[in-house]
Amino acid sequence: MDAALNVAGLTKTYGLGEGKVDVLRGVDLAVPPGQMCAVMGPSGVGKSTLLSCVSGLVQPDAGRIDVLGEDMAALDDEGRTLLRRKRIGIIYQFFNLVGNLTAEENVLLPFLIDGVTVDPKKIEHGLERVGMTKRRKHLPSQLSGGEMQLISIARALVREPALVLADEPTGNVNVATGERIMALLCEVTRESGAALLLVTHNPEDAARADRVVFMRDGELEREAELLGEEVSSDAVHARLRELGI
Ligand SMILES: Nc1ncnc2c1ncn2[C@@H]1O[C@H](COP(=O)(O)OP(=O)(O)OP(=O)(O)O)[C@@H](O)[C@H]1O
Ligand SMILES: [Mg+2]
Repeated sequence: MDAALNVAGLTKTYGLGEGKVDVLRGVDLAVPPGQMCAVMGPSGVGKSTLLSCVSGLVQPDAGRIDVLGEDMAALDDEGRTLLRRKRIGIIYQFFNLVGNLTAEENVLLPFLIDGVTVDPKKIEHGLERVGMTKRRKHLPSQLSGGEMQLISIARALVREPALVLADEPTGNVNVATGERIMALLCEVTRESGAALLLVTHNPEDAARADRVVFMRDGELEREAELLGEEVSSDAVHARLRELGI
């Protein structure tokens, strides 16, 4: 079967002249359907930029990105927006919930934007799945950070995306809540068979993945990659030390 995500020779430079930052310098990464792949690397190395390129929010300078069999470069703005909204689930460090909508309305919003009617049971089930039924009428300002993240997971996953992108989903919650968020995120992506690209600074979060890749100086360190049985918290810690991350 085709990769859920296939990135080849991806480069991205921000700015010009003195202020020029070469962020991505030839990133290659193929993620098969159902694989949970964690991406680690120092701050500023370009992890979020990689995710933004994959979701079509940032245009790379060169390279190829195939998402669920679609060549991103061949799509126009609208095509990329539709692909992102319909088939990619995105979970952000700062949640990105709409402030004047309730938890439930936030989960419903992507369907409303598409103009499709959705069975209310589906929204209900999504909230129930992340244990947030009791908070459904709360505005984001009336939720804790962890709760906001659970709502954003529900929002991403009720769409049944084939590819989930998560950028430091536990970056703004306490350790115990982070563990709960990761456990749920892994469980629901496994259930749905979606591929997951997870950016994290947390070795314990990365250790839940099927594969861990390490980014340094704009590239992925091929030899450092951990796969399957090799993935463990100790192995991730050891790699981070070896690579000076
Ligand atoms: N829109 C932009 N314009 C100019 N430079 C940018 C822009 N976005 C990001 N950068 C720069 O690109 C580099 C990579 O940023 P990115 O956010 O991808 O890093 P990151 O690996 O996600 O870091 P962190 O772990 O801190 O989230 C940084 O040096 C950043 O300053
Ligand atoms: Mg980032």
